[in-house]
Amino acid sequence: MRVPVPLAHAHRLLNHGPTTLVSTAHGGRRNVMAAAWVMPLDFEPPKFAAVVAADTFTRELLLASGECVLHAPTTAQIDLTMAVGNTSGRERDKFQALGIPTEPGGIVQAPLVAGCGAWLECRRLPEPAIEQRYDLFVLECVAAWADDSLWQKGEWHFSPGGARTIHHCKGGLFYTTGERLQASRKS
Ligand SMILES: Cc1cc2nc3c(=O)[nH]c(=O)nc-3n(C[C@H](O)[C@H](O)[C@H](O)COP(=O)(O)O)c2cc1C
Repeated sequence: MRVPVPLAHAHRLLNHGPTTLVSTAHGGRRNVMAAAWVMPLDFEPPKFAAVVAADTFTRELLLASGECVLHAPTTAQIDLTMAVGNTSGRERDKFQALGIPTEPGGIVQAPLVAGCGAWLECRRLPEPAIEQRYDLFVLECVAAWADDSLWQKGEWHFSPGGARTIHHCKGGLFYTTGERLQASRKS
């Protein structure tokens, strides 16, 4: 079940470096792409940095709407991640073409891809210089959600053989999150 995550904990949803999906919507169009180059940038208000290449339809909709949703897809969504990461939504609605189930977000217009481990509704903080120079977007998270079968008490809980977040290395090769290790020092 999708449950709200306090904004103070939003960075923890992507702190372990999973590959993400980025959904966008504007003017009756909607889209989703894969993005591995996404990372936390600040605690509160939570901010994230995302590389969104200049030729993507995602970038067009992100610039037009000022909003997107970052998702942490799980092991069952590897092929979906590759599919939305290798075709452009400029020519066709990937949600319809690939039969991707969605849910409405709480704040932003972009749809939430159902079945993910986490969802972060974000607003673009305009930084035209780094957007143009490095394709790097700064996003403020305004609402965060997680699947309570994977996220409890402010942290991920991945069970043996169960769903895990996915981490892209190269050419469709992914790794899953490993074992939980707690250092003796907490800070
Ligand atoms: C696993 C994976 C990770 C990717 N990571 C990024 C990324 O971090 N940034 C980016 O701009 N494109 C990334 N891409 C490529 C986009 O997802 C791809 O260009 C997509 O077709 C853009 O779709 P759009 O034109 O509908 O926005 C990635 C693709 C894959 C398969």
